[in-house]
This record gives sequence, C-alpha cells and structure tokens, in this order.
Amino acid sequence: MSNYRSLQNDVVSHIRRNFDAIGNGNPKIGGVDFKWKMCEPGYWVAGFYVGELWLAYQITGDERFKNQARQRNPFFQHLLHVPELLNHDLGFLFSLTQVADYKLTGNREARELALRAAEALRGQYQQMGEFIQAWPLTKINTENRNELAAGRMLIDSFENLALLFWAHQETGIQSFYDVAYAHARTAVKHLIREDGTTFHTFKFDPATQEPMYGQTLQGYADNSCWSRGQSWAVHGLTQIYAYTKDKAFLDAAKKVTDFALANLTAENICPWDYKLPKGSEVIWDSSATAITCAGVAALSQIEGYEQYRTKAQAMLDGLQEHCDLTGNADAEGLLDHGAYFVTRGDKRAMLPYGDYYYFEAIRRLNGETNFFW
Ligand code: GLY
Repeated sequence: MSNYRSLQNDVVSHIRRNFDAIGNGNPKIGGVDFKWKMCEPGYWVAGFYVGELWLAYQITGDERFKNQARQRNPFFQHLLHVPELLNHDLGFLFSLTQVADYKLTGNREARELALRAAEALRGQYQQMGEFIQAWPLTKINTENRNELAAGRMLIDSFENLALLFWAHQETGIQSFYDVAYAHARTAVKHLIREDGTTFHTFKFDPATQEPMYGQTLQGYADNSCWSRGQSWAVHGLTQIYAYTKDKAFLDAAKKVTDFALANLTAENICPWDYKLPKGSEVIWDSSATAITCAGVAALSQIEGYEQYRTKAQAMLDGLQEHCDLTGNADAEGLLDHGAYFVTRGDKRAMLPYGDYYYFEAIRRLNGETNFFW
C-alpha cells in the first residue's frame, strides 16, 4: 500500500517555511507569482489556512503551529458580532479553526465560539422549505444581494453541516441535528440529478418556499456540472453519512463520487466543469481535485468501500505530479492550477481550500481518521 509520509513531510516543511510570509493573514487567493492576497473579515475561506496549521500541529505537536492558528482568534470572535457575516459558510470558518482547537487541545473558549457559530448557522434554517438559506437577508445587504440570496440553497452547504452535527454530539441539543438532517435530505432531493451530476444552487419561492429550479453561479451553465460544487457534495455527503449512518446519504455520496471519477482528465485532475461543450478550453481545478480526493479517501475509510482508495491515490498522484508547489521555495501555497471563478476570468490560482484538502487527503491516505469536521 503506497503511503505519502514523504509528501506529508514536504507539506509541513513548506508551511513552516512560509510562516513569516503569511504572518497573521488568512490567505484568500494567489496568482501565478505564487504569493497570497489575504482575506477581508468574514470571507468564507478564512479558516482553511488555519486548518492546515492545526493539521501540522496534530502531526508534529510543535507549539508554533498552535500559536500561529490561535493568533487569528480575534478575527473569528469579531465575525460572530456582525449579522451579515453569519451565513451558510460558518461551518467552513469554525470547524477548521475552533472545533479543531477544541478537539486537539480541549480549549473551552474555542468550544464556546464554535457552538455560537453553530447557533447562528442553525438560525439560517427555513422551516417551510426545510433548507439552510444561502447568505443572511440583512438590511446591510443590498436589494440585489437579497434577491440573489432569498430562497436559495447552495451545494457548498453539504460541507458546512458538520458543524451542526458536531454541536449536537457535543451538547445533545436535538435541533442542531434536526436542522442539519433536514437540510441534507432537501439538498439531496433537489441538487443531485438522476445521473449523479449536481446543480450548484437551488431556488425556492422566497414567499412560499416551494421548490422552483436549479441554477449555477460559478459553473458553465445551469444544466452543466461545476466540479467544485460536485466536490462539496462528494466530501460533504460522506461526512454526513459518518454522523447519521443513514444509508441514503452514503448512496448519494457514491452516486456523485462515481460520476466525478468517471469524468476526470487523463491526469486524474477535475476539469473546472464536467459538462462543457466539445472543444472547450481545458482548464483544471486543483481545488475541486483536492476536495474530491479527500472525499474519496474518506469514502475508502468506510467498511465495504475500501476499493475507492486506489482512485483517491490516483488523484493525489495527479495533484502531486502536476500541481504541487512544495518544491518551489518561492511559492507561499501548496497547489497551482486552482480555478476560482472561470466565467469571471479567474482561471488559474492558488486557493487555500485546495491546499487544506490536499493536506487532508494526504493525511487520510496515510491512515488518519480524526479530523475537525
Ligand atoms: N464556496 C464557493 C466556492 O467553492 O467557490
């Protein structure tokens, strides 16, 4: 069985090498100069680099990783006081930062912050439609933004539900579980198509919350299949199964995973959208690849699904061969070739979620099963 100890060491060394360059910032996106631009407060990606620091701490026990991660705490404390920042992405922000801290060190303050974030995420739940609203409808958001958000559910939320399931496990408060479970059921019903492809978003009537139609925001077209959206479903559904043990979620995870695996490039990388017209420019998304790879590795850790390990390995090998930056001493991130928002012209970047899930995939393929989700 191949293992990735040496790649894991390279990743840890690369993160260490970039301590000073990154300082107290939270990487948002990096260009082909391989330098990061940093996040504004509350932006959904602000937790991923912190998640890498906690993974590095878990491996090495080196206090410097822990201290670097905790230096961001004022940022996460502040976020919980700003109503328009309390959105569907709180799971990304708080699982990899505060739940991670609590799980690894027993820090009670981190536990409290994570539970407050879980309450805010639960507060986005729409009772009639049984889904978690994308973005809060606050006075500060403009009318256009509210029009976009109202009655909309995003595929990204599959991944954020872990915060609610964790909060239930931690407190025994049933509503955390019930909201996460109901959203997951609604999302499987409306976001996953019969052939295992997915919609990026689904719109409900804002007044009645009756289901209306699927739509893309970051993919090629409403009826195409944006690969990062698919990857949130692959990883998220496997996680939801781990918490609920409901076979319907495992079946859904298998369905979206099998579609993704059958539609990779020859290099075992995700194209940015799986359903492009013939002859379209080939643009890779290393972030979708890393998220899918970590999800497939997680699936392979479930009894009876071990055969998925070879697929996860093939994807990790593809990333290592074609996108890995750990051998480039000038690069601040781990992966090249992330596609943030192709239809807006952002086709090739370093993306912190690509980096985090690359590290997670390596850890999973090295046998680790304890993560912060
Ligand atoms: N959550 C937005 C994205 O994946 O780009």
